[in-house]
Amino acid sequence: MLNPIKLASKNFLSSLDTSCEEFLHILDIAKNFKNKDLNVNFKEKVLGLIFDKSSTRTRVSFQVAMSRLGGTTVDLNPTTSQIGRGEPIRDTARVLSRYCDVLAIRTFKQSDLEEYAKWSSKPVINALTDLEHPCQALADFMTIKEEFLDFKDVVLTFIGDGNNVANSLILCGALLGVEVRIACPKGYEPNSFLIDKAYEIYENKNLLKITNDPNTAVLGANVLYTDVWSSMGEENQKDEKEKVFNGFTIDSDLVSKADKDAIILHCLPAYRSKEITDEIFESRKSRIFDQAENRLHAQQALLSCILQ
Ligand code: CP
Ligand code: NVA
Repeated sequence: MLNPIKLASKNFLSSLDTSCEEFLHILDIAKNFKNKDLNVNFKEKVLGLIFDKSSTRTRVSFQVAMSRLGGTTVDLNPTTSQIGRGEPIRDTARVLSRYCDVLAIRTFKQSDLEEYAKWSSKPVINALTDLEHPCQALADFMTIKEEFLDFKDVVLTFIGDGNNVANSLILCGALLGVEVRIACPKGYEPNSFLIDKAYEIYENKNLLKITNDPNTAVLGANVLYTDVWSSMGEENQKDEKEKVFNGFTIDSDLVSKADKDAIILHCLPAYRSKEITDEIFESRKSRIFDQAENRLHAQQALLSCILQ
């Protein structure tokens, strides 16, 4: 029977905090949890959740994952805890890590997440920052693997804003050697530092393409992926972005240029008729709700490896 193996890195702050082997191991464990082939017990283990931004999937899937592992969660509301009154991260982290066994944090700046990790004696998990969403990417690649069985020859095209989700897809693509194409309007490319990092990791540099043309990026692609045009914290850019992102909607025209068996992914929440049409969102090609379900299995697997 497959058993969760402890990860070399204490924290999971970035998609690059696992090796390729560890990433694939987490996906295998996740599949075992999904198939109910694995039983582990983390009784009395406590996951602390700190969410500075809204969440449905990440929060609930962490809570259910921890419950299925036999442990519990404590959800700290920043507005009713001292966090919202400005208690320094270094103090909060030192206190919480004396109560909890692991922390999952959703916040704005990656540097704040790193500050938590620096002062916490317990592992810290990135539950989304402005820079990365590595837990989402675990579920995304789990969903892709379920569909195509392995990653060989899979082409993943992300159309939209070069945001946290796109950044994590690029890093995972580099780790796994999967072809990733990002199509975004000029000026909305993914983080340049992470793009450079990904190119350093890719053995075949041709497997990462950043373009401003969605029509060429989708040609023959196996996976079409999109996310909101304005992420949390960018609400004031909404009107401007809706103009600039004209032509970047995943619609039947774009889908017809992809591989005939292509699947559609979206991390959710979705804005129909903005980044994706309702027709495509609800089509038989959509794996969006399998992807959302896989958040639970992937995070259960991640926690079981981290808590070893
Ligand atoms: N995809 C995702 O992270 O969803 P939530 O914002 O609802 O957690
Ligand atoms: N890019 C989105 C992802 C939401 C899960 C955001 O940061 O709001």
